[in-house]
Amino acid sequence: MCGIVGYVGPKSTLDVLLGGLRRLEYRGYDSAGVSIIAPGGQLETRKKAGKLDNLIAEITNHPLPIANIGIGHTRWATHGAPTDGNAHPHLGGPTSKLSLIHNGIIENFGELKAELAAIGTKFASETDSEVAAHLIAREFETTGDLPIAFANVVKRLHGAFTILVIHEDQPDVVLAARRNAPLVIGLGDGENFLGSDVAAFVEHTKRAIAVGQDEIVILRAGSVEIRTFDGTPVTPVEFTVDWDASAASKGGWSSFMAKEIADQPQAVADTLMGRLGSDGSVRLSEIDGLSAQDIKDIDRIIMVACGTASYACDVAKYAIEKYSRIPVQVELSHEFRYRDPIVTKNTLIVAVSQSGETMDTLMATRYAKEQGAKVLAICNTQGATLARESDAVIYTHAGPEVAVASTKALTAQITAGFLLALFLGAGREKVSTTELRRLGHELLKMPAHVTEVIENLDLARKLGKEMANAKSVLFLGRNVGFPIAMEGALKLKELAYIHAEGFAAGELKHGPIALIEEGQPVIVIVPSQRDEDSLHPKVISNIQEIRARGAKVIAIAEEGDNQVADYAEHVIFVPQSESMFAPILTVIPLQIFALELSTAKGLDVDQPRNLAKSVTVE
Ligand code: G6P
Repeated sequence: MCGIVGYVGPKSTLDVLLGGLRRLEYRGYDSAGVSIIAPGGQLETRKKAGKLDNLIAEITNHPLPIANIGIGHTRWATHGAPTDGNAHPHLGGPTSKLSLIHNGIIENFGELKAELAAIGTKFASETDSEVAAHLIAREFETTGDLPIAFANVVKRLHGAFTILVIHEDQPDVVLAARRNAPLVIGLGDGENFLGSDVAAFVEHTKRAIAVGQDEIVILRAGSVEIRTFDGTPVTPVEFTVDWDASAASKGGWSSFMAKEIADQPQAVADTLMGRLGSDGSVRLSEIDGLSAQDIKDIDRIIMVACGTASYACDVAKYAIEKYSRIPVQVELSHEFRYRDPIVTKNTLIVAVSQSGETMDTLMATRYAKEQGAKVLAICNTQGATLARESDAVIYTHAGPEVAVASTKALTAQITAGFLLALFLGAGREKVSTTELRRLGHELLKMPAHVTEVIENLDLARKLGKEMANAKSVLFLGRNVGFPIAMEGALKLKELAYIHAEGFAAGELKHGPIALIEEGQPVIVIVPSQRDEDSLHPKVISNIQEIRARGAKVIAIAEEGDNQVADYAEHVIFVPQSESMFAPILTVIPLQIFALELSTAKGLDVDQPRNLAKSVTVE
């Protein structure tokens, strides 16, 4: 986690750093800090616990000089509480001429710290990061060559890190190193940038380079040099960022989450764009990394993901199994990685991640590749580590998602999952062309349906506000509604800090029904009444069972459902759609519940406590 930004060039360095940190704040917001070196001047550092505004107030009280080089950091605490002292940057050396920022965890910091303590080094913080600052400063005193000193030290670090360093005696260069944590270079004209992701610099340049594993960057205003940790030169591959800075700004909305919920028709449409032919064909040219034979050989799919992305997998499982008849298993990445799972060369791993940097998911996919499996990523971020390490990528085109709680990335992931299901169904010849064409047409209607849901959210908003004092909310769903119930509960936990659980409606009588007492709010995802296979009558029976025990039921049902109103206090209707595709619609009122409930409680919906958007530690 943690957001990292670096700059060297003629612009106001402080403005570049603070602008970058503002857009990276979603990665962590426990504390923030910057270091700059003014021309011919000294290294200056400001850092403060709390959100970025605290740092800005600190800089207003203690202004910084104009500078052409600097580094900035926004923190999600791992080692050491979120205090001013533990905030980054950390200074190294007896005269504190070196400044360092770090994202990740240095696993062997204990032994390195002991080594430094034995020679009398004094530490100003409890962090693992400060150890690296002192080691590099000392190594520079010995070697007199900053890039060499930097390489010598990063080679000794174990764990995950992106590290950026500047030094008062070398005021024209920012050094960066990457292992198991993200780092991207932004290429400017007479200026260059570094960031945890392209959001750090997209307002200045769209030309970018993703830095590879175990590589060092030597960044000057007029040059960018990349080497491996061992000093071998690396030829960079440039890419162009396909969204602009306005996509990552609130644009008048009360929160990023509110904006991102409203972005969903576009996110779904853009994810479908160019991928469905009028003849029913599914075009996923990105999957060229997997041959037709690879697809025929798949005997099992394992989908790995964390958090909200794992619910996208749960939905996709229903579609992939139904249309392709390939068995699918969904695994939380961290559980999959460490239980000696059965993976063969005919297993297809589908790794789903908005950021493409979630460490648990990266570790799971690396493990699977080592076992000979092919990895297909569903990812929202260009240049992300997951995309680069996979055999093929289906990009979701949701645009930048800033709010910690995922919304539009989820609906885009579910959409991509449906495309994959149809693609595999066609490849394995399990769905007729006529049926594929029909399903393709139904999928293409989804952006318009999403727009309709978004235009009719007044009741969901009102109910969300009214539930602000609820102590617990339960969610029920069946079939594809089950993962959506889980997602509705996760959203309430994340954003409103209230107890919430999602259950399979059929499981109710096997335990959870004991939780129902007078007035207990229960939100039920009701399947389509039109679909004979959709279990509508069974869910209506489940509603009756809980109402008989005092539950207050809010149903999310399809328009035209003429039965549900008799069994629920409130019904939120969504447009009629192919019942497999309904999760793209039914999840939206649940996002709004969480948003309104959190807002009514006066909480920060974009930056909920203790969380970070991109979890780059295991
Ligand atoms: C964090 C976020 C979640 C997100 C999960 C997976 O826990 O708070 O919103 O779903 O990470 O993130 P990814 O980037 O891999 O989709």
